[in-house]
Amino acid sequence: MNILGIETSCDETAAAVVTDGRKIRSNIVASQIELHAKYGGIVPELASRKHVEAINYIVDQAMDEASLRFDELEAIAVTNRPGLIGALLVGVAAAKSLAYCHDLPLLGINHIEGHIYANFMEHEALPFPHVCLTVSGGHTLLVEVQEGWKYEILGTTQDDAAGEAYDKVAQYLGLGFPGGKIIDDLAKEGDSDAIQFPRPMLDRDNYQFSFSGIKTAVRFFVEKAKAAGTLPPIVDIAASFQAAVVDVLVGKTVRAAKAKNLTAITLTGGVAANRQLRESMREAGAEIGAEVYYPPIQLCTDNGAMIAGVAYPKYQEGLRDGLDLNAFASGSIV
Ligand code: KG4
Ligand code: ZN
Repeated sequence: MNILGIETSCDETAAAVVTDGRKIRSNIVASQIELHAKYGGIVPELASRKHVEAINYIVDQAMDEASLRFDELEAIAVTNRPGLIGALLVGVAAAKSLAYCHDLPLLGINHIEGHIYANFMEHEALPFPHVCLTVSGGHTLLVEVQEGWKYEILGTTQDDAAGEAYDKVAQYLGLGFPGGKIIDDLAKEGDSDAIQFPRPMLDRDNYQFSFSGIKTAVRFFVEKAKAAGTLPPIVDIAASFQAAVVDVLVGKTVRAAKAKNLTAITLTGGVAANRQLRESMREAGAEIGAEVYYPPIQLCTDNGAMIAGVAYPKYQEGLRDGLDLNAFASGSIV
C-alpha cells in the first residue's frame, strides 16, 4: 500500500512515498536553512512563502523517484499539527488539492507521531512498549509508546526545546544557525568539565525539562569571564554546555525507562543526531539493561517519510479526513 506523505510544519518542504509503512520509495527534502540563517532563526512568513514556491516540485520529485502514478497511491497523508501555522497550511492545501483531484483518501497527521514512528521504520524488531525521547528545535517530549501506537506522555519542556537551547547558545556565541551540529562538532575538541553549568530539574522527581536556564547561565558566564579576562576556549564552553543538556536528557529518560521497567529507549528529532547524546544514552541505558535505538539522520530531522509511515497504521485503523481538514499550531499526540 503506497502512501504519499507531505511535511511542511517548519522550514523543510518535504514529500515522500512509503509502501506498507516501512519501505521508503522516495524521501525528498528541500531545506530552507540558508534562507533563515542570516536571521539567526526561522522567520515564519518567509518559511510559508518558500513552501509555496517549493511544494509542487517536491511532490513531483517524490512521485518521480518512487516511479509511481497518483492512481497507484492508496492515500495522501499530511502534517497538519503542531507547527508554524502558515507553513502547515501550505502542505495541507497541497494535500487537499491532490486528494480531491485524484480522488484519494486524505489523512491529517501529528508531526510528533511521525518523529516517534521514524525509529520503527529503521528498526524492524523494535519492542513495545518503549520509552521515546523526541528532541528537536521545537519539541522536547518524553513518552511511553505502547503497542498500537498509543502513548502515555511522561514529560515535556516547560520553556525552550532542547534544540532551541542549542540554537540560542550558538547564536549568542556568534557561531551560526542552526547551532546543534556546530556545537556538537566544537564540543568534540573541548573539555566538558571545564565549566559547571546547571542541570535544570535533573534532581526533581518528575520527567519535566527546562532549558532556558542553561542558555542564560552560558550568557552570564561568558559576560563575567569576558569582563575578568578569563574567557576559556570556545570548545570548552561548547563541551560544557552540551554536557549539561545531555546529562538532563539522559538522566530523565533512563530514569523513566527504569521506573517503567522498559528495556528499549528510542531517540528521535534533530537533536537525536547529537553524538554525545547517542553515546551517553547508550552507556546509561546499558547500565539498566535497556537498548537504545535511533534513526539515521535523514529520518531524525523533518521529513515526509515519517509522515507517510505513521499514516499506514492509522489508515488501517480507519482514519480518514475530509477536505475541510485544517492546520493547527499546537496539538497533543494523546
Ligand atoms: O527535527 P528538526 O530538523 O526540526 C524541528 O522539528 O525543529 O530539528 C532541528 C534542531 C535544531 O535545533 C538543530 O540545532 C538541532 O535539531 N540539531 C542538533 C544536531 N543536529 C541538529 N542538536 C544537537 N546536536 C546535533 N548534532
Ligand atoms: Zn520535527
